Amino acid sequence: MDILIFSPDGKTAPFETGLADALPGARTRSWQPGDDNAADYLVLWKPNAEVLKPRERLKAIFNMGAGVDAVLGVDGEGARRLPAGVALVRLEDAGMGAQMVEYVSHAVLRYFRRLDELAELQAQGVWKFLKPNRIAEFPVAVLGFGTLGAQVAGGLAALGFPVRAWSRSARPGRENVTLYSGADGFDTCVSGARVLVNLLPLTPDTADVLNAKLFAKLAPGAFVINVARGGHLVEADLLAAMASGQIAGATLDVFRTEPLPADHPFWRQPRLTVTPHMSALTLREETIAQIAGKIAALERGEAITGIVDIQRGY
Ligand code: NAP
Ligand code: GLV
Repeated sequence: MDILIFSPDGKTAPFETGLADALPGARTRSWQPGDDNAADYLVLWKPNAEVLKPRERLKAIFNMGAGVDAVLGVDGEGARRLPAGVALVRLEDAGMGAQMVEYVSHAVLRYFRRLDELAELQAQGVWKFLKPNRIAEFPVAVLGFGTLGAQVAGGLAALGFPVRAWSRSARPGRENVTLYSGADGFDTCVSGARVLVNLLPLTPDTADVLNAKLFAKLAPGAFVINVARGGHLVEADLLAAMASGQIAGATLDVFRTEPLPADHPFWRQPRLTVTPHMSALTLREETIAQIAGKIAALERGEAITGIVDIQRGY
């Protein structure tokens, strides 16, 4: 069995070794320009068109991340260049859920407990009591109730926040999380929310979802947390909503252009936290174990989870 590995940063050697160790008998290699040789499995992140060219024996493509937008393209153009009949498989959690819960919980609590405002007062040497927020009156809306969104929603509910979440398909919520779906559900989910968390996949249906219309539905002075993809956020709308006070601040981990360009206005917004796409990192050991486990299952003729619905885009 041949496993071909690609990453634009070229840091594929540990995956070659790890997958070879986990799958005795497997031959692993890193893609080099011009390699159009046969492979049973592709393991990749942000592939170029050459890597995705049809190749003999290919059975499945494993994405070394949860989001497959870099493979499919936001307008679906990438889907057309995928080899026909080959499953695209994404990472399911693989250690990202716990990281996402930590990151988002911290951002929500920091805003809820007014810690940025207190830091500004400290910088001025001012001792001033700020009225605390009441948690029961602090609804948080989470867009996306999948592998990561459900964990984040559950974590925030466990802290005591009234949590609403939004998914594509209608289904029951979970303890202390009210679940909405569809266009009507969207409005109810976000209306009056004090914090908005985005954990949707980037697809033609969800691109630009964080826009002026949505910001206007939130509570005045709400807070935005985007940990999904930069293509979800209309950047100019966020800056305008922050200028008007409708949005008090934001924590952004993902951007339309990454790394965020040095002259981007987001760097200079005092109430905006910028982090370099690291709210939930792909963890090497967990990733190798998950992909190797699924390859072994496929080789035994068993079904696996995490297969992307190409039409839906996630
Ligand atoms: P997932 O399990 O596929 O969950 C996606 C959720 O979004 C599902 O609840 C789905 O609804 C919902 N959804 C999709 N399209 C929708 C639509 N048009 N309307 C309403 N709901 C919709 O994905 P995941 O593993 O939780 O990951 C989510 C995203 O997080 C990834 O795609 C990736 O972009 C991002 N991410 C970011 C980082 C980072 O470090 N910043 C790390 C990992 C992942 P259903 O439940 O009905 O299908
Ligand atoms: C990271 O952004 C991922 O999609 O796994």
